[in-house]
Amino acid sequence: MKRDFLAVTDFSTSEIKDTLTIAKVVKHMHRWGDDPKPLAGKHAALMFRKPSLRTRASFETGIRQLGGDTLFFSDAEIGMGKRESVHDVAKVMSRFFDLVVIRTFAHEEITEFAKYAEVPVINALTDLLHPCQIMGDIFTIMEYKNRVDDLVIAYVGDGGNNIANSWVNLASRLSFQLRIGTTEDRQPDPKILENARNAGLSEIIITDDPVEAVRDADVVYTDVWASMGEKDKIAEREQKLKKFQVNAELLSHAKPDVIFMHCLPAERGREVTDEVMDGPHSVVFDQAENRLHIQKAIILQLFGERF
Ligand code: CP
Ligand code: NVA
Repeated sequence: MKRDFLAVTDFSTSEIKDTLTIAKVVKHMHRWGDDPKPLAGKHAALMFRKPSLRTRASFETGIRQLGGDTLFFSDAEIGMGKRESVHDVAKVMSRFFDLVVIRTFAHEEITEFAKYAEVPVINALTDLLHPCQIMGDIFTIMEYKNRVDDLVIAYVGDGGNNIANSWVNLASRLSFQLRIGTTEDRQPDPKILENARNAGLSEIIITDDPVEAVRDADVVYTDVWASMGEKDKIAEREQKLKKFQVNAELLSHAKPDVIFMHCLPAERGREVTDEVMDGPHSVVFDQAENRLHIQKAIILQLFGERF
């Protein structure tokens, strides 16, 4: 049966660990100039309804490095749900492609697409979740910290977005302490939070005190205060979230060897200052590079024995 990767929770704990191992292998092989070609003869479609730099570049480059080929469709070409139903697009895509990668707004659109598609579907970001990003992030954290179990990972800022929700999802598969510093009205999705707490693996603390969130943290992570599709809310969010700005003062409450992470694109001067983005703790460009290797690993994990 075909498998999809729409949420981090589509992989079990051991599959997540395997994916991180595959990412390490393909990263090294790429550096040695020896990319394996398991996707030779495979074709992937990328259907993106929102802008992208890292995600598009990492999928297109990564798939080609593994011997496959990609075709990119912007919303203007397909008009899914307007020009043609989600069902029909999913059926047609399945006749042309071996894999479909989708970036869209409503999460329900990708779940509906995946239901009708006969080939694997990967979530390249929805309003609810950004699972590939969080897989790349935990890969980067492993590179720097070489462990997960006893880490304190502090996410501060907009607690109600796709990145925060994906961190909560990961906390239901791997064990660490997740602290989310955010306001009352920007909490993670309640169902995702309940599932993660029921999983009983990680402690999840939500606080509206930014210092409490980052105190002695191993990782401090932030994201934009208004995501794609809601940029008109930035003035209101800025008022509410400004105390969560990651600046040198806030970062000084974390561990001395803290790493600072941001999925990018960043709005410098808002959720993070230049001094932090460009400072000694920042790993944001390693994080960006690792999207390339984790994307390949997710595809290989997903295809399993289907080659
Ligand atoms: N982090 C990330 O997904 O970046 P893009 O939106 O540029 O793909
Ligand atoms: N939360 C951000 C992530 C971008 C990679 C957004 O959805 O715009």
